[in-house]
Formats: sequence, structure tokens, C-alpha cells
Amino acid sequence: MRVGFVGWRGMVGSVLMQRMLEENDFAVIDEPVFFTTSNVGGTAPNVGRDVPPLKDARNIDELKAMDAIVTCQGGDYTTEVYAKLRAAGWNGYWIDAASTLRMEDNAIIVLDPVNSNVIEAGLANGVKDFIGGNCTNSIMLMGMGGLFREGLVEWVSSMTYQAASGGGANHMRELLKGMGVVHAAVADELATPSSAILDIDRKVAATIREDVPTEFFGAPLAGGLIPWIDKQLDNGQSKEEWKGQAEVNKILGNTATIPVDGLCVRIGAMRCHSLALTVKLKKDLPLEEIEAIIKSGNDWVKWVPNDRDITVKELTPAAITGGLQIGVGRVRKLNMGGEYLSAFVIGDQLLWGAAEPLRRMLRILIE
Ligand code: HSE
Repeated sequence: MRVGFVGWRGMVGSVLMQRMLEENDFAVIDEPVFFTTSNVGGTAPNVGRDVPPLKDARNIDELKAMDAIVTCQGGDYTTEVYAKLRAAGWNGYWIDAASTLRMEDNAIIVLDPVNSNVIEAGLANGVKDFIGGNCTNSIMLMGMGGLFREGLVEWVSSMTYQAASGGGANHMRELLKGMGVVHAAVADELATPSSAILDIDRKVAATIREDVPTEFFGAPLAGGLIPWIDKQLDNGQSKEEWKGQAEVNKILGNTATIPVDGLCVRIGAMRCHSLALTVKLKKDLPLEEIEAIIKSGNDWVKWVPNDRDITVKELTPAAITGGLQIGVGRVRKLNMGGEYLSAFVIGDQLLWGAAEPLRRMLRILIE
């Protein structure tokens, strides 16, 4: 199999490369070929074997020579190249991190620990487009997949706490710069234990309003939050909120739609997305049974008992970031009744939320 890689240098692409090296994926690809939009003829990355110099990611003939293309180059690239490539008669596998093609009828959203049945059926039916899901949806399903698999979910209200990395590398930098600006504004007072906290707070508030950079987020994130992610739709939802129901049901291959809705909020975490869920179950099951079903979802579920000390240690961005585990905790019955369950799900947005499902899809194609 000849596999072309586009957008391997960006943030998601770099995480993908790192994971592929860790899992020795390049050893099982007959011919990895790296493409570029800016450095044709340049040296390809070191993947532990000989690979040709960088090829032109806009050259349809070069792309056509691939059996599969994996792209993390972004939606504009997909829009520019995908249709031309198909129009030129290319019938290879297109594996894409961007959302552009996600909801197309001939595309499958990949998250194989949750929807390997949908992926296998798609492959058998000749589907060629395999697209990574929205990060919050992938993380939610990795955490709660067991309950969905057992057909127990009537609806989900999903309130998100989304990290800066969901916006991109520039957004992560802006968050950190903002944190620095806020700290610098009161560094002297902070160093003086006798200084008045309300004086510090006044200065911090003014700094957040006036001096924290907002170029990428459009509002100050450091020391705050932004209760809107992505475009505004006519129905009052943000596009990020709209994706919840649309993508979750598509990932699961549902014929009857399970309602999924809630508010999506940007917070000052680096790369861990979290979700506070209210799940309406179809029946009132004992908590032990619910725990067993959630744990059985997949190998990456990290069950965190609903205990204060363990939760504040294990169910946080600090504990989860940079790893593949999906934390699931705060699971308890809500006052609304025995069928109403709370859960807090957290995962690294760049791993299961972006790169990991793509590399696993490629592996499925190869094996
Ligand atoms: N749209 C997501 C976010 C990231 O802004 O956090 C990509 O799935």
C-alpha cells in the first residue's frame, strides 16, 4: 500500500506522526510518501526508513498514485483538492482530520473502539472516505460507549469544557501569553503577602479586559472562559453544539436519532476537553451495573470512583493530558430520578479527539 501523508507538520499531524512512530506503524506501510504545500523536493521526516523527498500536495497526478491519503492539512485543503482528485478518477482511501466531508453520505466518521461495526460495514460496501470526528464527540463516545452499545441512552445533555488546543496552536499560545500578562500585572503585589487581594483583583480585572491578547479567540480566555465555540447557527446553537447530535448518531450508525444537546464552552486548559453529562437512561439500573457497562466500553476507559480525593487527583487535565486514557467519573444518580445519571468525561483532545482514530483507521486498512 502506498500511503500519502499531508499536513504531517502541523499540530494534529505532529501528534499523528508521534503516535505512528510509537506504534511502529511505518514499518507495516509498503510505501509512505510525504507531501507538502510549501517545500516541494525538501527532505521528508525521519520515520526510521528511506522515504522519497517531499511531493507537491496540490499535484493531482502525484496524489493519484497513492492507495490511501491521510490528511491533517485542514478543511481548506480538503475543499481544494478532494473533489479534483475524485473527478480525476482516484478511487483510493481518503482519511481526513478535517470536518469538511464528515457529514457526507459517502463518508464514515471513524472511532473504531466505538463503531468498528459501522466501519467494517462501510468497507464491505466500498466506502472510501473515513473522516475523524469532532473531538468532544469522540471523547464522549470513548467514555460512554458502553451505555450506547447497550442501547440504554434515551438522551444526553452535554455541557463541555473545551481546551485551547481545539482552536489550534496559535490559540494555545494566546492562552499562555494571556496568563503571563495577567500575572505580570500583579507580580509585585503577589510577592508581597500583606498586599490587599481586592486591589490585586481590581488590577487583574482591568488587565483581562484591556491587555490580555484576543487575536485568535476573539475574547480574553486567560483567567476566564468563552461560552461560545465556532459559528452561530439560526436556531441559537453554536456549530460545535450542533455537531453533538449530528455526529454522535452518525458515528453510531443510528437509524433512530438519540437527542444530544448542550452548551459548549472554551476554558483555559491546554489540550484536555471535558464534558459534564446528564444522561437520561431508558431504565433505572443499579449504579454497580452502570459502572460495569461503562468500564466495558473499551480498553481506554479510566474509571474514576465518585470520591473526592480520587476525583481531584485523577479526573483533571493535569492527570489526563498527553495520554490515551479517557477519564470517566462523577457518575451518580441525579435528584431528578433513577434514570438520570451524571458523568464527567475527560480526554486529550489531540489524541482520541483528533490523531488516534486516523492512525487506527489506516491500520485497519493495512491489516
Ligand atoms: N472544534 C473543536 C474545538 C476542535 O474547537 O475545540 C476540533 O474537533
